[in-house]
Amino acid sequence: MTADDLPAVLAVQRLAHGDAYQEAAEVLDAKRQRSPAACWVACDAEGMVGYVFAHDWPGEAPPPLHAALPAVESSACGFLHDLAVVPRAHGCGVGGALFSAVQQWSLAADHEALNLVSLASAATYWQRAGFVPVLPIEQSVMAAYGDGACFMRLTLGR
Ligand SMILES: CC(C)(COP(=O)(O)OP(=O)(O)OC[C@H]1O[C@@H](n2cnc3c(N)ncnc32)[C@H](O)[C@@H]1OP(=O)(O)O)[C@@H](O)C(=O)NCCC(=O)NCCS
Repeated sequence: MTADDLPAVLAVQRLAHGDAYQEAAEVLDAKRQRSPAACWVACDAEGMVGYVFAHDWPGEAPPPLHAALPAVESSACGFLHDLAVVPRAHGCGVGGALFSAVQQWSLAADHEALNLVSLASAATYWQRAGFVPVLPIEQSVMAAYGDGACFMRLTLGR
């Protein structure tokens, strides 16, 4: 993913998540710049069909949503910020391929774990990929992610 991809990323985000989840382009680009090698797009002949954002992050809790990432002293983990695929490409393996790219990046970075916040509707998807819920998490942070959102972890075995 490059900065030039962001308009198409925002369009995919709207198609996959609806309007309620939209993050500002500058917030997304700040997340991309934190770990550019961990952010990917997937395209077919008609255009972009999916994207994933991930970045270095400490493991204790998720970063605040809709805000630039604060500086941190060390990041023992990766954080998968968002994975989205347009409905017309669902079930074709795009999500799995994007997730695999992030997992390889996190392994190569020697992270202890890869963390994410699952939307309520995606918890089963992440459990199938090996993620387990982490509790408890400060509710003021989790509230911005929506009802039923869950902080989850995939231990990478460092
Ligand atoms: C979740 C998402 C990324 C999956 O993308 P995808 O390209 O369709 O996924 P894949 O083709 O790699 O995998 C498809 C498999 O995952 C399953 N799956 C897809 N979405 C799922 C969900 N929300 N819950 C449980 N299983 C799901 C499919 O049933 C299919 O199972 P099968 O292999 O047994 O047939 C996509 O549905 C999406 O963008 N959803 C909206 C945004 C979202 O919720 N993102 C996650 C944010 S935490």
